[in-house]
Amino acid sequence: MTHDFPSDFVWGAAASAYQIEGAAYEDGRGESIWDRFCSTPGKVRAGDTGDVACDFYHRYREDIALMRELGLEAFRFSIAWPRVLPSATRPVNEAGLDFYDRLVDALLEARIRPFVNLFHWDLPQELEDAGGWPERRTAEAFAAYAETVGDRLGDRVKDWITHNEPFCTSWLGYGLGAHAPGRTSVKDALAAAHHALLGHGWAVEALRRTAPGAEIGIVIDPWPIHPATDSPEDVTAAYAEDGIRNRWFFDAVLRGAYPEDVLERFTDDAPPVHDGDLATMSTPLDFVGVNNYSRRTVRADGRGGVIEVRAADGELTNMDWEVYPAGMHESLVRMHREYGVDSLYVTENGAAFADVRGHDGQVHDVERIAYLDGYLGAIAAAVAEGVPVRGYFVWSLLDNFEWSLGYSKRFGLVYVDYPTLERIPKDSFHWYRELIAASRAAALAS
Ligand code: FCB
Repeated sequence: MTHDFPSDFVWGAAASAYQIEGAAYEDGRGESIWDRFCSTPGKVRAGDTGDVACDFYHRYREDIALMRELGLEAFRFSIAWPRVLPSATRPVNEAGLDFYDRLVDALLEARIRPFVNLFHWDLPQELEDAGGWPERRTAEAFAAYAETVGDRLGDRVKDWITHNEPFCTSWLGYGLGAHAPGRTSVKDALAAAHHALLGHGWAVEALRRTAPGAEIGIVIDPWPIHPATDSPEDVTAAYAEDGIRNRWFFDAVLRGAYPEDVLERFTDDAPPVHDGDLATMSTPLDFVGVNNYSRRTVRADGRGGVIEVRAADGELTNMDWEVYPAGMHESLVRMHREYGVDSLYVTENGAAFADVRGHDGQVHDVERIAYLDGYLGAIAAAVAEGVPVRGYFVWSLLDNFEWSLGYSKRFGLVYVDYPTLERIPKDSFHWYRELIAASRAAALAS
């Protein structure tokens, strides 16, 4: 239960706009692709929407009080792009920016470092109507949006993230149809990924101008892809899948090149690369954020693809994700050794379990505590081996809207009773609080 971390290690929690804010129709917010997706029958479990979510938009002060109780040092949240720029033809929505202004000030007042993420999947619907991420002009719009937010918050926010998990933006949204906007085209997915990363590069430039001295990074989500057996077929298939899922993104951002084997596989659907794009995408960063929850185990399907295999003895969370702390260790080591990243944060990690309130009104989430403890042990082991991990953000502070699974998956350290929106700290909240306090005490004593 006690793991060693550097004395300046940052303890945080993460969340995103659409998953917690609610207030979907207030103060001039425009429609996002997630509003549209949620209102399309059959897309989101039980017809759930982010209309109210955790009502963080109105309750953020109460939630910051919880963060203080927890001893949180940093809070990673995202800005809802359609709150700031509801439409390409209308001016900046000052009321939307004002909300983030108040939020940043309230966090700073509570001595909690805001880690501001510009894009966590809620693209303005109007931009989707004009073609969405597969279009280059969406990357241009993203750069302008970054500039607007940087202008307003850059004097106070010192830690910025451009994109959260560009794999999900592109493949889940445009390739596999599981997320908004729900398209199923490989060509669109690869073009979307290209423009998301291009927009990332331009946004870094915009933030360097508008938030001088700030640290800027991107959040990627390495999922180790392991072969089910060591047969050459399975090993080759796992490597190919790793190319699509992981190397495509890591190589573009960290090496300025797409992996040859993946390009060859997708020659008919190749992304529209202009001269200089890859240099823009691989502009130097101050840190890379790693979101890791689990791994995938696969075998060759005999047709160039893979079939998912359930790991024999792995425990599963309520997402059906295998509990596999070694995958966190592997991902961090990979970023550092293979890709030369010398500044990392774990920007998301956590677990959904079927939490219930007991007779005492409390939530005794022992499985979550065990999960977090195992993963923190894996992170501490990486740190001990010289991997430069600077902080950890648990996903998530509150139970929230889990995308196409709606409110059915609870990841929070705080239970949210959705009908009343009451917040009930779970046992894991108290556990994390003690861990942060102990780590801080150890740092002071050293
Ligand atoms: C990540 C997302 C985050 C949340 C967790 C469970 O992929 O970034 O919004 O849904 O998974």
